[in-house]
Amino acid sequence: MALRFLKASLGAALILGAQAALAQQPAPAGDAELAHRDKTAMCVGCHGIQGYRTAFPEVYHVPKIAGQQPAYLISALKAYKSGDRSHPSMRGIAASLSDQDMTDLAAYYGVPAGTARARGDAESGKAKAAQACAACHGPDGNQPSAPDQPILAGQYADYLAKALHDYKTGKRNHAIMKGFATPLSKEDMEDLAAWFSSQKSRLHDQR
Ligand code: HEC
Ligand code: HEC
Repeated sequence: MALRFLKASLGAALILGAQAALAQQPAPAGDAELAHRDKTAMCVGCHGIQGYRTAFPEVYHVPKIAGQQPAYLISALKAYKSGDRSHPSMRGIAASLSDQDMTDLAAYYGVPAGTARARGDAESGKAKAAQACAACHGPDGNQPSAPDQPILAGQYADYLAKALHDYKTGKRNHAIMKGFATPLSKEDMEDLAAWFSSQKSRLHDQR
Protein backbone atom coordinates (compact mmCIF):
# COMPACT_ATOMS: atom_id res chain seq x y z
CA MET A 1 0.00 0.00 0.00
CA ALA A 2 2.65 2.50 1.09
CA LEU A 3 4.94 1.27 -1.64
CA ARG A 4 2.23 1.57 -4.25
CA PHE A 5 1.59 5.14 -3.18
CA LEU A 6 5.25 5.91 -3.29
CA LYS A 7 5.54 4.60 -6.83
CA ALA A 8 2.51 6.62 -7.86
CA SER A 9 3.88 9.77 -6.26
CA LEU A 10 7.29 9.33 -7.80
CA GLY A 11 5.62 8.82 -11.18
CA ALA A 12 3.69 12.03 -10.66
CA ALA A 13 6.91 13.72 -9.59
CA LEU A 14 8.64 12.74 -12.81
CA ILE A 15 5.81 14.05 -14.95
CA LEU A 16 5.76 17.26 -12.96
CA GLY A 17 9.50 17.65 -13.35
CA ALA A 18 9.21 17.24 -17.11
CA GLN A 19 6.45 19.83 -17.28
CA ALA A 20 8.44 22.21 -15.15
CA ALA A 21 11.51 21.79 -17.34
CA LEU A 22 9.44 22.68 -20.39
CA ALA A 23 7.95 25.75 -18.78
CA GLN A 24 11.30 27.60 -18.37
CA GLN A 25 9.76 30.81 -17.08
CA PRO A 26 11.54 32.00 -13.99
CA ALA A 27 9.07 34.03 -11.98
CA PRO A 28 10.48 35.19 -8.65
CA ALA A 29 7.38 34.96 -6.46
CA GLY A 30 5.74 31.70 -5.51
CA ASP A 31 2.27 30.94 -6.80
CA ALA A 32 0.40 29.27 -3.94
CA GLU A 33 -2.79 28.70 -5.95
CA LEU A 34 -0.89 27.00 -8.74
CA ALA A 35 0.98 24.83 -6.24
CA HIS A 36 -2.29 23.83 -4.61
CA ARG A 37 -3.86 22.95 -7.94
CA ASP A 38 -0.99 21.18 -9.67
CA LYS A 39 1.87 20.39 -7.33
CA THR A 40 0.75 19.22 -3.91
CA ALA A 41 -0.95 15.98 -4.98
CA MET A 42 2.26 14.10 -4.31
CA CYS A 43 2.78 15.70 -0.89
CA VAL A 44 -0.58 15.21 0.79
CA GLY A 45 -0.29 11.44 0.96
CA CYS A 46 2.47 11.83 3.55
CA HIS A 47 2.44 15.40 4.87
CA GLY A 48 -1.33 15.83 4.80
CA ILE A 49 -2.16 12.89 7.04
CA GLN A 50 -2.28 13.74 10.72
CA GLY A 51 0.14 11.72 12.76
CA TYR A 52 1.41 9.78 9.74
CA ARG A 53 4.66 7.92 10.23
CA THR A 54 7.27 7.00 7.73
CA ALA A 55 8.04 3.27 7.59
CA PHE A 56 11.34 3.29 5.73
CA PRO A 57 14.21 3.41 6.49
CA GLU A 58 13.22 4.32 10.07
CA VAL A 59 9.91 4.82 11.82
CA TYR A 60 9.12 8.38 12.93
CA HIS A 61 6.54 11.07 12.23
CA VAL A 62 6.49 12.75 8.84
CA PRO A 63 7.33 16.36 9.77
CA LYS A 64 4.77 19.14 9.66
CA ILE A 65 5.41 21.52 6.79
CA ALA A 66 2.22 23.62 6.72
CA GLY A 67 2.92 26.90 8.50
CA GLN A 68 6.68 26.47 8.32
CA GLN A 69 8.85 29.38 7.15
CA PRO A 70 8.79 29.50 3.33
CA ALA A 71 12.53 30.09 2.92
CA TYR A 72 13.27 27.14 5.18
CA LEU A 73 11.02 24.86 3.11
CA ILE A 74 12.92 25.83 -0.04
CA SER A 75 16.28 25.26 1.62
CA ALA A 76 15.13 21.85 2.92
CA LEU A 77 13.93 20.78 -0.54
CA LYS A 78 17.21 21.93 -2.06
CA ALA A 79 19.11 19.94 0.56
CA TYR A 80 17.26 16.77 -0.48
CA LYS A 81 17.92 17.52 -4.12
CA SER A 82 21.64 18.12 -3.59
CA GLY A 83 22.07 15.15 -1.25
CA ASP A 84 22.85 17.21 1.87
CA ARG A 85 19.80 15.43 3.29
CA SER A 86 19.58 11.74 2.59
CA HIS A 87 16.00 10.58 3.07
CA PRO A 88 15.36 8.40 -0.02
CA SER A 89 11.75 9.29 -0.87
CA MET A 90 12.21 13.00 -0.22
CA ARG A 91 15.35 12.88 -2.36
CA GLY A 92 13.38 11.28 -5.20
CA ILE A 93 10.66 13.88 -4.91
CA ALA A 94 12.93 16.90 -4.58
CA ALA A 95 15.02 15.77 -7.54
CA SER A 96 11.97 16.20 -9.73
CA LEU A 97 11.19 19.73 -8.54
CA SER A 98 12.44 22.84 -10.32
CA ASP A 99 13.37 25.95 -8.35
CA GLN A 100 10.04 27.41 -9.40
CA ASP A 101 8.16 24.32 -8.15
CA MET A 102 9.90 24.71 -4.79
CA THR A 103 9.04 28.40 -4.59
CA ASP A 104 5.40 27.67 -5.44
CA LEU A 105 5.20 24.86 -2.91
CA ALA A 106 6.80 27.07 -0.24
CA ALA A 107 4.27 29.80 -1.01
CA TYR A 108 1.47 27.30 -0.49
CA TYR A 109 2.73 25.48 2.61
CA GLY A 110 4.82 28.24 4.12
CA VAL A 111 1.96 30.26 5.48
CA PRO A 112 0.43 29.64 8.88
CA ALA A 113 -2.55 27.36 8.43
CA GLY A 114 -4.96 29.86 9.93
CA THR A 115 -4.13 32.55 7.42
CA ALA A 116 -3.69 30.39 4.34
CA ARG A 117 -6.94 31.51 2.78
CA ALA A 118 -7.32 34.92 4.34
CA ARG A 119 -8.34 37.23 1.53
CA GLY A 120 -9.04 40.26 3.65
CA ASP A 121 -6.77 42.98 4.95
CA ALA A 122 -5.79 42.17 8.53
CA GLU A 123 -4.83 45.76 9.38
CA SER A 124 -8.23 47.20 8.55
CA GLY A 125 -9.76 44.17 10.25
CA LYS A 126 -7.88 45.14 13.39
CA ALA A 127 -9.45 48.60 13.41
CA LYS A 128 -12.93 47.22 12.77
CA ALA A 129 -12.52 44.61 15.49
CA ALA A 130 -11.48 47.22 18.03
CA GLN A 131 -14.73 49.11 17.41
CA ALA A 132 -17.26 46.34 17.12
CA CYS A 133 -15.98 43.03 18.45
CA ALA A 134 -13.35 43.55 21.13
CA ALA A 135 -15.82 44.04 23.96
CA CYS A 136 -16.86 40.39 23.74
CA HIS A 137 -14.08 38.57 21.90
CA GLY A 138 -11.08 40.62 23.04
CA PRO A 139 -9.04 42.85 20.71
CA ASP A 140 -7.17 39.89 19.20
CA GLY A 141 -9.95 37.31 19.56
CA ASN A 142 -8.27 35.61 22.50
CA GLN A 143 -10.31 36.92 25.44
CA PRO A 144 -13.93 35.85 25.25
CA SER A 145 -15.94 37.79 27.82
CA ALA A 146 -18.12 34.79 28.71
CA PRO A 147 -17.64 31.01 28.80
CA ASP A 148 -20.09 30.37 25.95
CA GLN A 149 -18.21 32.62 23.53
CA PRO A 150 -15.66 31.26 21.10
CA ILE A 151 -12.00 32.06 20.74
CA LEU A 152 -11.58 33.59 17.27
CA ALA A 153 -7.77 34.01 17.29
CA GLY A 154 -6.07 31.51 15.03
CA GLN A 155 -9.30 30.09 13.65
CA TYR A 156 -9.34 29.48 9.91
CA ALA A 157 -10.13 32.73 8.09
CA ASP A 158 -12.47 31.15 5.58
CA TYR A 159 -14.44 29.57 8.42
CA LEU A 160 -14.74 32.87 10.31
CA ALA A 161 -15.95 34.70 7.20
CA LYS A 162 -18.47 31.97 6.51
CA ALA A 163 -19.73 32.05 10.12
CA LEU A 164 -20.27 35.83 9.89
CA HIS A 165 -22.06 35.45 6.59
CA ASP A 166 -24.29 32.75 8.09
CA TYR A 167 -25.22 34.96 11.07
CA LYS A 168 -26.14 37.78 8.69
CA THR A 169 -28.31 35.63 6.44
CA GLY A 170 -29.86 33.61 9.27
CA LYS A 171 -28.34 30.30 8.20
CA ARG A 172 -26.86 30.35 11.68
CA ASN A 173 -29.29 31.65 14.20
CA HIS A 174 -27.99 33.74 17.11
CA ALA A 175 -29.62 37.04 18.07
CA ILE A 176 -26.51 38.82 19.35
CA MET A 177 -24.21 37.83 16.51
CA LYS A 178 -26.92 38.56 13.96
CA GLY A 179 -26.96 42.09 15.31
CA PHE A 180 -23.21 42.49 14.87
CA ALA A 181 -22.93 40.68 11.55
CA THR A 182 -25.81 42.43 9.78
CA PRO A 183 -24.06 45.77 9.19
CA LEU A 184 -20.90 44.06 7.90
CA SER A 185 -20.11 44.05 4.18
CA LYS A 186 -18.39 41.05 2.57
CA GLU A 187 -15.15 43.04 2.69
CA ASP A 188 -15.60 43.80 6.40
CA MET A 189 -16.08 40.09 7.05
CA GLU A 190 -12.97 39.15 5.18
CA ASP A 191 -10.90 41.86 6.86
CA LEU A 192 -12.12 40.80 10.30
CA ALA A 193 -11.50 37.14 9.47
CA ALA A 194 -7.98 37.98 8.28
CA TRP A 195 -7.26 39.87 11.48
CA PHE A 196 -8.54 37.28 13.94
CA SER A 197 -7.17 34.27 12.08
CA SER A 198 -3.67 35.73 12.04
CA GLN A 199 -3.50 36.20 15.82
CA LYS A 200 -1.61 33.87 18.15
CA SER A 201 -3.92 31.26 19.46
CA ARG A 202 -4.33 28.18 21.55
CA LEU A 203 -6.56 26.60 18.89
CA HIS A 204 -4.95 23.72 17.05
CA ASP A 205 -5.83 20.80 14.83
CA GLN A 206 -3.69 18.09 16.37
CA ARG A 207 -5.96 15.85 18.38
C1 HEC B 1 6.47 9.16 0.83
C2 HEC B 1 6.10 10.16 1.82
C3 HEC B 1 6.43 11.63 1.49
C4 HEC B 1 6.01 12.35 0.40
C5 HEC B 1 5.14 11.86 -0.75
C6 HEC B 1 6.52 13.70 0.57
N1 HEC B 1 7.23 13.77 1.73
FE1 HEC B 1 8.27 15.40 2.41
N2 HEC B 1 8.98 14.28 3.93
C7 HEC B 1 8.70 12.96 4.20
C8 HEC B 1 9.52 12.47 5.30
C9 HEC B 1 9.51 11.07 5.89
C10 HEC B 1 10.33 13.57 5.70
C11 HEC B 1 11.45 13.59 6.76
C12 HEC B 1 12.69 13.09 6.06
C13 HEC B 1 13.95 13.33 6.86
O1 HEC B 1 14.12 12.72 7.91
O2 HEC B 1 14.78 14.13 6.38
C14 HEC B 1 9.96 14.69 4.82
C15 HEC B 1 10.53 15.97 4.91
C16 HEC B 1 10.13 17.06 4.16
C17 HEC B 1 10.60 18.41 4.35
C18 HEC B 1 11.59 18.88 5.41
C19 HEC B 1 10.81 19.28 6.64
C20 HEC B 1 11.70 19.81 7.76
O3 HEC B 1 11.14 20.25 8.77
O4 HEC B 1 12.91 19.81 7.63
C21 HEC B 1 9.97 19.20 3.43
C22 HEC B 1 10.13 20.69 3.26
C23 HEC B 1 9.10 18.33 2.66
N3 HEC B 1 9.22 17.04 3.13
C24 HEC B 1 8.29 18.76 1.64
C25 HEC B 1 7.57 17.90 0.81
C26 HEC B 1 6.84 18.34 -0.35
C27 HEC B 1 6.71 19.79 -0.79
C28 HEC B 1 6.29 17.22 -0.92
C29 HEC B 1 5.50 17.14 -2.21
C30 HEC B 1 6.16 17.74 -3.36
C31 HEC B 1 6.67 16.08 -0.09
N4 HEC B 1 7.46 16.54 0.93
C32 HEC B 1 6.30 14.75 -0.31
C33 HEC B 1 7.79 12.17 3.51
C34 HEC B 1 7.20 12.52 2.32
C1 HEC C 1 -22.03 41.36 22.74
C2 HEC C 1 -20.98 40.35 22.59
C3 HEC C 1 -20.44 40.11 21.18
C4 HEC C 1 -19.93 41.04 20.30
C5 HEC C 1 -19.79 42.56 20.47
C6 HEC C 1 -19.48 40.28 19.15
N1 HEC C 1 -19.70 38.95 19.35
FE1 HEC C 1 -19.15 37.44 18.08
N2 HEC C 1 -20.00 36.08 19.34
C7 HEC C 1 -20.64 36.37 20.53
C8 HEC C 1 -21.29 35.18 21.04
C9 HEC C 1 -22.12 35.07 22.30
C10 HEC C 1 -20.98 34.14 20.12
C11 HEC C 1 -21.45 32.67 20.16
C12 HEC C 1 -22.69 32.60 19.24
C13 HEC C 1 -23.12 31.19 18.90
O1 HEC C 1 -23.18 30.35 19.80
O2 HEC C 1 -23.39 30.97 17.69
C14 HEC C 1 -20.18 34.75 19.06
C15 HEC C 1 -19.69 34.05 17.98
C16 HEC C 1 -18.93 34.60 16.96
C17 HEC C 1 -18.40 33.87 15.85
C18 HEC C 1 -18.52 32.37 15.57
C19 HEC C 1 -17.21 31.69 15.89
C20 HEC C 1 -17.24 30.18 15.79
O3 HEC C 1 -16.27 29.54 16.24
O4 HEC C 1 -18.20 29.59 15.24
C21 HEC C 1 -17.73 34.78 15.07
C22 HEC C 1 -16.99 34.48 13.77
C23 HEC C 1 -17.85 36.05 15.70
N3 HEC C 1 -18.58 35.91 16.84
C24 HEC C 1 -17.29 37.21 15.22
C25 HEC C 1 -17.56 38.48 15.74
C26 HEC C 1 -17.12 39.69 15.10
C27 HEC C 1 -16.27 39.77 13.85
C28 HEC C 1 -17.61 40.72 15.88
C29 HEC C 1 -17.47 42.19 15.59
C30 HEC C 1 -18.03 42.64 14.33
C31 HEC C 1 -18.31 40.13 16.99
N4 HEC C 1 -18.26 38.76 16.86
C32 HEC C 1 -18.91 40.84 18.02
C33 HEC C 1 -20.67 37.61 21.16
C34 HEC C 1 -20.30 38.80 20.57
